[in-house]
Amino acid sequence: MSMLTIAMPKGRIFEEAADLLRQAGYQLPPEFDESRKLIIEVPEENLRFFLAKPMDVATYVEYGVADLGIAGKDVLLEEKRDVYELLDLQISPCYLAVAGLPNTSMSEVAPKIATKYPNVASTYFREQGEQVEIIKLNGSIELAPLIGLADRIVDIVSTGRTLKENGLVEYETIVGITSRLIVNPVSYRMKDREIQTLVDRLTEIISEKVV
Ligand code: PRP
Repeated sequence: MSMLTIAMPKGRIFEEAADLLRQAGYQLPPEFDESRKLIIEVPEENLRFFLAKPMDVATYVEYGVADLGIAGKDVLLEEKRDVYELLDLQISPCYLAVAGLPNTSMSEVAPKIATKYPNVASTYFREQGEQVEIIKLNGSIELAPLIGLADRIVDIVSTGRTLKENGLVEYETIVGITSRLIVNPVSYRMKDREIQTLVDRLTEIISEKVV
């Protein structure tokens, strides 16, 4: 059996993803959750993990340095990497939405949209027939309409707390998001047996949860 390398997203999704793997029967060491190491080997399970920035997971998988990855659908929509989506892990549910200050309309000429998701946002507004100016930010997107940088934001809403506490409202929902298991197309051919075992074990645990 050859070893599988999995790119894991650091941050919010990490804990839920690690829990899911454990529930699927993989013995992951405690250091998995606490350590600052970016590469963690679990030889007993024939697994090796990279701890990556969530937005970069699909990049590692596309280039084949990781066979598999766990990535939010938001990342896959934004990055459009050449990877296969194998499984909806049904963890970390949230959605992408258009939000802004209440009771405000967008500027008539080239309204400004602040977002971490420039591709998703420009596709969305193009489909709506609206010409907008996209302003790429890397976080704390909710600041933009508060300080007059943008008319609207396109961002992730999970509990809705960030919008609420900053006095913002949702105008439109763009798309629902969950985390997905993705695979490098070559790895999928070369390590099909190992990958199928992992997929089967995860599928079993996911379907148990849904019932
Ligand atoms: C995300 C997202 C929102 C917030 C939504 O940001 O961009 O700001 O979470 O969650 P909520 O609906 O539960 O409040 P994150 O905390 O990942 O950090 P960021 O500001 O660096 O993007």
